[in-house]
Amino acid sequence: MAYATFRSIGAYVPKKILTNEDLATMVDTSDDWITKRTGIKERHIAAKEEFTSDMGVKAAELALLRSGLAKEEIDMVVCATISPDYFCMPSTATVISAKLGLKNVTAFDISAACTGFIYALSIAKAFIESGMKKNVLIIGAEKLSAITDYSDRGTCILFGDGAGSAVISATDNKAEAIIDVHTGADGEYADLLMTPNGGSGSAHDALEQESSSCFMQMKGNETFKVAVRTLTKDVVEILEENGIQSDAIKHFIPHQANYRIIKAVGDALKMKEEQVVLTVAKYGNTSGASIPMAINDIYESGRLQKGELMLLDAFGGGLTWGSALIPFSPK
Ligand code: ACO
Repeated sequence: MAYATFRSIGAYVPKKILTNEDLATMVDTSDDWITKRTGIKERHIAAKEEFTSDMGVKAAELALLRSGLAKEEIDMVVCATISPDYFCMPSTATVISAKLGLKNVTAFDISAACTGFIYALSIAKAFIESGMKKNVLIIGAEKLSAITDYSDRGTCILFGDGAGSAVISATDNKAEAIIDVHTGADGEYADLLMTPNGGSGSAHDALEQESSSCFMQMKGNETFKVAVRTLTKDVVEILEENGIQSDAIKHFIPHQANYRIIKAVGDALKMKEEQVVLTVAKYGNTSGASIPMAINDIYESGRLQKGELMLLDAFGGGLTWGSALIPFSPK
């Protein structure tokens, strides 16, 4: 049986920085409020002509380079995004494939909000273990600034842009294998986080819509409580099911939504400070890109070494959630 291994990581962050002070000139908020309630100090914003696919390409190029594979060896591309280049089609994964010059690949997007990267990981693992694919490029890429309402202080302070990517490959070495990936969803909570306009469910007729905007709306406080509960439960389950104690985790890499959520979950799981990876202060919430961007951060700073065990944990709109246990296995 083939196993799936996490072979390489890459990420890209756009140049422009939007600070809390900048936001305080746009809406009724302050650096103090944002820092205390979220831990976010700044986020990066893509240029107008920079698409989600462009950021995905830059992250994927790094992941490909670090994988040591030729691009011809990639046989599938999965892009997790809620801010695709185009509404409906073509998928951002096919745009990225074309920009990378990848031919003869299976390519598609998935929509699982902030859990998107973990969903993509589970799909890559399943395709590889079934023998259908050998090298899968997974990408989490978001231009959330394109779907953020910058007059809504409840959401605009949270989100940023960026992309992360990983190559997941077949191996026969069980020690390198992704140990487990959990994914789940509960549509009963759909109204906590939505982009209510723009889809077939929103309007009677496109011509009758008041606005074609597709901004995110969120019940922040309720989302916060569900997030802490769901993230903690999922991690407890994946650790128990695999007989792993939390002190065996070298890097706990939660979705970077809010420092207070990460702290509450980390404390509930008795994680030590040095185990918890934090990038929320500098990137804000980049949804499907947040986890691979955080993995890339510890990789590039030399903190992530071969064989070290990573625990990923995410939740997002849907609601969706997921977790994964992965030994880092670079070539
Ligand atoms: N600046 C100043 N005051 C604000 C701001 C702001 N930016 N936003 C809200 N407030 C005010 C509110 O109006 C309210 O005032 P009131 O007491 O006079 O009514 C007060 O601050 C408290 O508001 P809450 O919404 O209760 O604040 P909370 O502590 O919950 O923080 C936040 C809000 C940061 C949004 C938090 O709820 C949160 O992080 N929620 C989870 C977000 C998240 O993780 N989303 C999921 C993933 S995203 C995805 O899937 C794409």
